[in-house]
Amino acid sequence: IGRTTYHIAVIKGDGIGPEIVTEAMKILHLAGEKFGFLCQFHEVLAGGCAIEATGQALPEETLEACLASDSVLLGAVGGPQWDTLPGEKRPERALLGLRSGLDLFTNLRPAYLQPALAHACPLKPEIVGEGMDILIVRELTGGIYFGKRGRTKVNGAPAAFDTECYSVPEIQRICRVAFESARKRRGHVTSVDKANVLESSRLWRTVFHEIAREYPDVTADDMFIDNAAMQLVHNPAQFDVIVTTNMFGDILSDEASMLTGSIGMLPSASLGATRLGMYEPVHGSAPDIAGKGLANPLATIASAAMMLRYSLDQPAAADAVDRAIAAALADGWRTADIADASTPEEKILSTVQMGEAVASLL
Ligand code: NAI
Ligand code: MG
Repeated sequence: IGRTTYHIAVIKGDGIGPEIVTEAMKILHLAGEKFGFLCQFHEVLAGGCAIEATGQALPEETLEACLASDSVLLGAVGGPQWDTLPGEKRPERALLGLRSGLDLFTNLRPAYLQPALAHACPLKPEIVGEGMDILIVRELTGGIYFGKRGRTKVNGAPAAFDTECYSVPEIQRICRVAFESARKRRGHVTSVDKANVLESSRLWRTVFHEIAREYPDVTADDMFIDNAAMQLVHNPAQFDVIVTTNMFGDILSDEASMLTGSIGMLPSASLGATRLGMYEPVHGSAPDIAGKGLANPLATIASAAMMLRYSLDQPAAADAVDRAIAAALADGWRTADIADASTPEEKILSTVQMGEAVASLL
């Protein structure tokens, strides 16, 4: 009574999904007890398990439950048993349906190198320097992936085209997300474009600097995509928030994620115009290790921390969860994917044990 209650739609999904999401739910519950709020979970189906139960990857009831919630926690969907289904019937189709159904035009992918996992970064220590903690803000529902495309003929030869188109409101809203995020971080936004060549990038750059004037407390600069790709491996510590288009963000976020070690560590958030967001690990359903207790739950727990930060407005709880993850790693606790030759046997944990380690440190 008196405690703020958040309604969270939970989609455990397929493969390792149920194992990792269960650990993240425990952490959210515990964070609520510590910080004075209540998480009410509503489990709904999507993906392969939904196909088995209802014949549809994204049942109408699931989308409605997500729309009615404060945020959505997702494990992963898909698996080899559904690989023979045609494209529009596959489990992964549920993800597209959720993104468009919830109008999630922003994809946030933090690439953070945990100090305890510095050895897993492929860059030399002197290049990583003071570390890497970058938030990539990628536009998710516009640009060349959604532009006019087709086949044609040029001088009689078969040809094909795709078009990059961004409207001013589309650029404005993603830039605002970047500046708001930077305010909660180190106060620096870099816009990445190709304004020396592309007209859409020239508009992007102009609008970015217009929005920057609304945020005088945040440092704003811009960079060409080719230089940004180079700078990311040359001097990653110079970046705080990067805001960019759908395609450039797709490429840069994969490049950045490789600098952090294991895919089992990387969270993501997809956001729209309201507080409602969808939070999920970057990785998939890992059918090869499903049901064995081997999955690393930290990407999903870190996604839950992002939910606390961006959808539930509980920054102190989010910080506490992030600190508990870092502390578990600093204490030497490892799941198999982040263990190395020097990790003692007794420090290698199962999915549930890693969840418990984070919970005890929280
Ligand atoms: P994957 O990310 O599931 O697995 C790639 C490799 O990383 C595997 O060796 C796996 O064991 C390992 N891995 C992934 N997550 C891990 C974790 N938390 N802890 C330890 N190891 C982990 O990618 P893959 O194998 O290409 O896809 C498997 C299925 O997942 C496919 O059906 C694919 O379509 C689906 N998928 C779903 C996504 C989603 O729901 N958002 C995203 C990517 C793939
Ligand atoms: Mg990609």
